[in-house]
Amino acid sequence: MSYLRFLPAHIQEKEINALLKERLRWVNQQKKGFLRYRLPCEFLQKYKAERLDCSGDVVSIGSISECSSSAQAEIRQALKAFMPWRKGPFSIFGVEIDAEWRSERKWNRIKPQLPDLYDKVVADIGCNNGYYMFRMTPHQPRFILGFEPSVQHYYCFKALNTMAGFDNLETDLLGIEHLGLFPETFDIIFLMGVIYHRSSPVDALKDVFSALKPGGSVIIESQAIPGEEPIALFPDRTYAKAPGTYFVPTGSCLKNWILRAGFISADLFFSHPMSSDEQRRTDWMVFESYDDFIDPDNPSLTIEGFPAPYRVFLKAIKK
Ligand SMILES: C[S@@+](CC[C@H](N)C(=O)[O-])C[C@H]1O[C@@H](n2cnc3c(N)ncnc32)[C@H](O)[C@@H]1O
Repeated sequence: MSYLRFLPAHIQEKEINALLKERLRWVNQQKKGFLRYRLPCEFLQKYKAERLDCSGDVVSIGSISECSSSAQAEIRQALKAFMPWRKGPFSIFGVEIDAEWRSERKWNRIKPQLPDLYDKVVADIGCNNGYYMFRMTPHQPRFILGFEPSVQHYYCFKALNTMAGFDNLETDLLGIEHLGLFPETFDIIFLMGVIYHRSSPVDALKDVFSALKPGGSVIIESQAIPGEEPIALFPDRTYAKAPGTYFVPTGSCLKNWILRAGFISADLFFSHPMSSDEQRRTDWMVFESYDDFIDPDNPSLTIEGFPAPYRVFLKAIKK
């Protein structure tokens, strides 16, 4: 992979190349489940944006004046193939994509605590369609690697970045479980919306710790339960209808996990209750959303009767 040149020489290059080759062989199969995303991604490659703006709430790639109305209709049609759009908003050659999540709100909460990204090597674990990677570009990082095992999001990012043309952004079909191949590699890691999906969260944080360079920092954002006690909820089956949820910590519990994983400091800098203002059904995500996950008679509980979700934000430093 050509981007490996951005990474330190001591990464496990042979193993990474073998893994990526195997992942590519898998995703390049002529099967419906891959083609439904690969074909629209390839189709969109002919559109190269002249105007880019990732500095505002809406990631803007290409403007309406750069293409005809029939081209815009084709672009809209191709972008619909990546539905449901979970993260956004985006504006692509004038096609406005209102995603399920108001991701700009999360970014605006992080911004005051953002480590200096200039010339840094960054990883975004669980990067989805790359919304936050695009938002990082005005800070001029040297390189950002997105880890994203979902084929849908992988191709969605590729489509967006082929139109945008950032040569310091890349996503691969990797998961947090592959961080061991990247010892002391990244200056900054973003781990947002991932830790409660891990069955061994402290081990996951140890992997993040090992993948950071000495002096590196991590921004961790997580679903959480309200409360001051250092405890975590462990649902029997689902939490807010999500089956892949394991431990949902309080902010102080997550802080303890982070410190026990080896970080010298962990600062909980923001927390807020979730709401249907921030996560909702839109024209680009037509399935169930926040309101459907919450007890209709008591908004402080999930549909399963657990405390309704908060979100917590922490910044931690490796010595
Ligand atoms: C709740 S979303 C969070 C997306 C984004 N980071 C954010 O904060 O808005 C979780 C993301 O992690 C991805 N994911 C799933 N399994 C993963 C794994 N093993 N390692 C890293 N990311 C994973 C999902 O595909 C999804 O894009």
